[in-house]
Amino acid sequence: MTRHTKKPATRHVVSINDLTNREIETIFEVAQSYLKDLADKSYPYRIARSTNVAAKHLLATVFYEPSTRTRLSFESAMLRLGGQTITSADPNTSSAAKGESLADSARVISNYADIIVIRHPRDGAARLAAEYSNVPVVNGGDGSHEHPTQTLCDLFTLKQKNKSLKGLNVTIAGDLKNSRTVHSFVYALARFGAHIAPMPAPGMELPPHVDRRLREEFRCTFDADGPIGAFYRTPEEPHQPALFSPPDFEIYRANKEQREKIAAVYVTRFQKERAGEQDQPYLKVDAEFLKEPKFSRASVLHPLPRVGELSASFDSDVRAMYFQQAAYGVPIRMALISLMLGLWKGKGLELFESGFEESRMPAYDQPRSEGIQCANSKCIVHDDAEAQYVRNKFHLVKAGTPTRYILRCAYCETDIDQFVIASKKNRWFTPELAAVFKPDGLNFRDLVAFSGESEAQKRGYHMRRHASASGQHGVKVGTHD
Ligand code: NCD
Repeated sequence: MTRHTKKPATRHVVSINDLTNREIETIFEVAQSYLKDLADKSYPYRIARSTNVAAKHLLATVFYEPSTRTRLSFESAMLRLGGQTITSADPNTSSAAKGESLADSARVISNYADIIVIRHPRDGAARLAAEYSNVPVVNGGDGSHEHPTQTLCDLFTLKQKNKSLKGLNVTIAGDLKNSRTVHSFVYALARFGAHIAPMPAPGMELPPHVDRRLREEFRCTFDADGPIGAFYRTPEEPHQPALFSPPDFEIYRANKEQREKIAAVYVTRFQKERAGEQDQPYLKVDAEFLKEPKFSRASVLHPLPRVGELSASFDSDVRAMYFQQAAYGVPIRMALISLMLGLWKGKGLELFESGFEESRMPAYDQPRSEGIQCANSKCIVHDDAEAQYVRNKFHLVKAGTPTRYILRCAYCETDIDQFVIASKKNRWFTPELAAVFKPDGLNFRDLVAFSGESEAQKRGYHMRRHASASGQHGVKVGTHD
């Protein structure tokens, strides 16, 4: 690979799905090159070496929530690349305390730095920051939405031990509902063909929209009686070809032993800042928990911090990988930063410079005051400080069999599958989406969605009188009422 200095198109990494599998593999390749040679064999961890490829570049870390690993490993990564860092680590000492919007802050900071890492308590906040930033934005964790760079560390750790991720059984234990690391991780596992064994603490299952996406978009089948418990089994063939590498059938010849062994147990803490008080017993992972034969060779991962759910007495076990996983945070983030800054030119990076962002613009885009709003009360669209900057924006996603349309919030990616669609100009609404695609030269900007018929009627719309001719082959959306 050779270095170059061409200014790349602005590419943001807000969701793990903003990266293709090829790009993730390239990040791993570059991260590998940033690992220090193991001169001292007695030192148990693999850590990053230093270079100066990012000299003259500046990274800003803007954190509205506590952090140890993410912020410090990003800053360490930038410094180890020879770059510099500026930081706003405490919202009480930044203009956020005066009521400044995230949108304004992002716009301002993007003139101070070449790349921004942001952490925020609201779901979807990183996407909003990206919209207002002139430089690449990396999501360092937004509410319970996603934490894509943690997933890069998690996958890289798994990849160091296993030739391929395809066919691996990965148990994910704890608070699957509120853990953003889990949400990014399950999408990535599904995309790389690993099987996911959810082990939620009581009442902390994956959110319905994440579960639905695994099944309908990543084509996982849910097998409640698998040989080693419930599993999302990932398909042999990828569903969204653009996101995936060619399937690696050579390596994937899962023999019986592999099928029945757990390759990794991913433990998460109870997310008390998002989940409230813990009123049910939470999980406790220790040597006793892991003594079953199926765990005999399982790597134990944890994004950390741990607060009691993973025993310190397990640290000396050969299966304990979590401190190495945290150490990989530096070379992984060195790789990501240097690639996003366009400091490498090489295979697999075409999308870092293409119109990938533009191709993923939401189809539905209306003012915040009009029509349906994101159903997730923790989404950044509901933050009054951002009221002037957010819009009701949704991707229109075709899902399921029979096919139906759903609206996916462009910020937090929560889905709405119950809505009617209306024409502002013609003052009618319809639950039949196909009707609005075809006739009458309708302009997409003219369309507004409501949660149901009564909501549309309350706003002065009437049901479209003659159903479209596409009645039989039209794609319906659901309605509440
Ligand atoms: C995670 C986070 O902030 O989501 N921490 C991290 O970045 N490694 C996990 C957590 O806080 O539980």
